[in-house]
Order: sequence, then C-alpha cells, then structure tokens
Amino acid sequence: MVGFNKILFFSSSLFLFSCSSNDSLKENNGLVENEVNLSGKELYLQQCAICHGEDGKLGASGAKDLSISKLDAKGTKTIILNGKNGMPPMRELLESEENVLKVIEHIQKLKE
Ligand code: HEC
Repeated sequence: MVGFNKILFFSSSLFLFSCSSNDSLKENNGLVENEVNLSGKELYLQQCAICHGEDGKLGASGAKDLSISKLDAKGTKTIILNGKNGMPPMRELLESEENVLKVIEHIQKLKE
C-alpha cells in the first residue's frame, strides 16, 4: 500500500499546485507591470515546501533533504526544470528563468 499512498499524495499535491499557480499579467501588451513578483523564498514556500518543507528537510513523498544536497547549481536547475522520480517538473509552475534562479538562490541558503 506504500506505493498507493505515494500516488495519492502526488496527485493531491499536483491539484494544490494547479490552484496556486498565479495569474501573471505579463502578457498584457506591456501595459500592466507583472503584478506577481515573488521572492525566491515565497516561490519556494509556494511550490516546493509541500514536499521539501520550509527548511528543506521534510522529505515528504521521498523528497531529498535540500539542506544537505551536494548538487551544484546546474544539477539543481536540471532537477527543478525536469523533475526526477517523485518530483514533478517545476518548469511551468515557476514560469520564468528568473524565478528558477531565485529559487536556486533561496535553497542555497538552506545549506548554511
Ligand atoms: C511533489 C513533491 C515535490 C515537490 C513539490 C518538489 N520536490 Fe524536489 N524532490 C522531490 C523528490 C521526491 C526528490 C528526490 C528525487 C530523486 O532523486 O529521486 C526531490 C529532489 C529535489 C532536488 C535534488 C536534491 C538532491 O540532492 O538530489 C532538488 C534540488 C529539489 N528537489 C528542489 C526542489 C525545488 C526547488 C522545488 C520547488 C520549485 C521542488 N523540489 C519541489 C519532491 C518534490
């Protein structure tokens, strides 16, 4: 039944993400400034903490402890964009390169 629980958790968290993905105004012909300008920490709390926890150590759904991750920025980015095993790809949810970099910067701080 372990596998089943995992799938349940996974699909319910995907559901949460689809609700929390923000309505960016970016594409409004440049008339309106992008209203949603979240910090790396805010993005992390919104998109990552459900599995990794606020401090990176939660380990829900088999998530790796980010506070002891040995991955460099490049490896970290690859996983964030494409996902791995129990981790879904976060490319769409983070929306922009800038946001991905902000999240990477934030998770570096979890190692300090
Ligand atoms: C649905 C749960 C889930 C969410 C949401 C999630 N992760 Fe993960 N993450 C995982 C799992 C599971 C792994 C372990 C993958 C593996 O190696 O098998 C992982 C691994 C990682 C790793 C690799 C760590 C290492 O040392 O190997 C990084 C970095 C990471 N996640 C960052 C993030 C970031 C940043 C976000 C938010 C943008 C995020 N994750 C969102 C579940 C999640």
